[in-house]
Amino acid sequence: MVSYKELGLVNTREMFAKAIKGGYAIPAFNFNNMEQLQAIIKAAAETKSPVILQVSKGARNYANQTLLRYMAQGAVEYAKELGWEHPQICLHLDHGDSFELCKSCVDFGFSSVMIDASALPYEENIALTRKVVDYAHQYDVTVEAELGVLAGVEDDVQAEESHYTRPEEVIDFATRTGCDSLAISIGTSHGAYKFKPEQCTRDPKTGRLVPPPLAFDVLDAIMEKLPGFPIVLHGSSSVPQEYVDMINAHGGKLPDAVGIPEEQLRKAAKSAVCKINIDSDSRLAFTAAVRKVFDEKPGEFDPRKYCGPARDLMEELYKHKIINVLGSDGKAE
Ligand code: G3H
Ligand code: 13P
Ligand code: ZN
Repeated sequence: MVSYKELGLVNTREMFAKAIKGGYAIPAFNFNNMEQLQAIIKAAAETKSPVILQVSKGARNYANQTLLRYMAQGAVEYAKELGWEHPQICLHLDHGDSFELCKSCVDFGFSSVMIDASALPYEENIALTRKVVDYAHQYDVTVEAELGVLAGVEDDVQAEESHYTRPEEVIDFATRTGCDSLAISIGTSHGAYKFKPEQCTRDPKTGRLVPPPLAFDVLDAIMEKLPGFPIVLHGSSSVPQEYVDMINAHGGKLPDAVGIPEEQLRKAAKSAVCKINIDSDSRLAFTAAVRKVFDEKPGEFDPRKYCGPARDLMEELYKHKIINVLGSDGKAE
């Protein structure tokens, strides 16, 4: 058993309480490798923003759980080395799909876990979430649960269509599970193709897709039922056109990729939405930078010469999200 407290990590409880009160959201960035982690920590340290490092089941399999834990511990030390006196860094399991996986993460030094039983029938979702909460809370590890189903792929969970969270269920769900935060479905989805072209309109000037707005009425109804309760938005990448264009200009093929417009995320961040999940934008930045180097310098074969620019572009992206979208800068001196 390794306690996250020994690693210098924090859970989400205080972060979320402050974020709701302050009208901003905590960035939850997924990472799978050293360059992503370096970029996240540099961006958080330089902006003094609390940050959630997210590890999916896939990332855990890709990078090895032991290595990931030491990377997170290293991240705290790296943050201090960068001059961040009191780093507020949370290590979070993203989309845990079983009690065993959540338990293993709690036992292995994670400070927060998500149990995503949203694809199960309501009562089964409650039962599994409650089991994880009972275990995690013994070690002061916070738990995120999900109610409602996002469109697209949620790790292994396939959902044909989006089922918005039903506001009439949230009080019962939060009370009976004892979860610390609730991921909801209001129209976001995972990946770089969040909406089908037929769901969008097209900007006549640019020809780009304009997505439909998120269901803020559903969010409002949930906040009314659960005043001050921490809400989480998954699938919140904006799919910046500059990265898509860069990828396409250097041999890639991402036609009609579309994300959540930043002004909608800004609006959400000011509400009880206090955790915003971003993964795809970082993947796009990484890929855009690597493709550019490969295209312009076909003789290059030193990974530092293409992973370095990728890291720089991701750092710029994370800072932009922190300062201009989530408003979490300066909240963790
Ligand atoms: O919600 C999904 C995250 O983007 C993680 O994706 O399972 O491919 O690591 P992954
Ligand atoms: P994106 O695919 O929009 O980045 O969402 C990531 C996410 O929700 C991770 O859980
Ligand atoms: Zn997600």
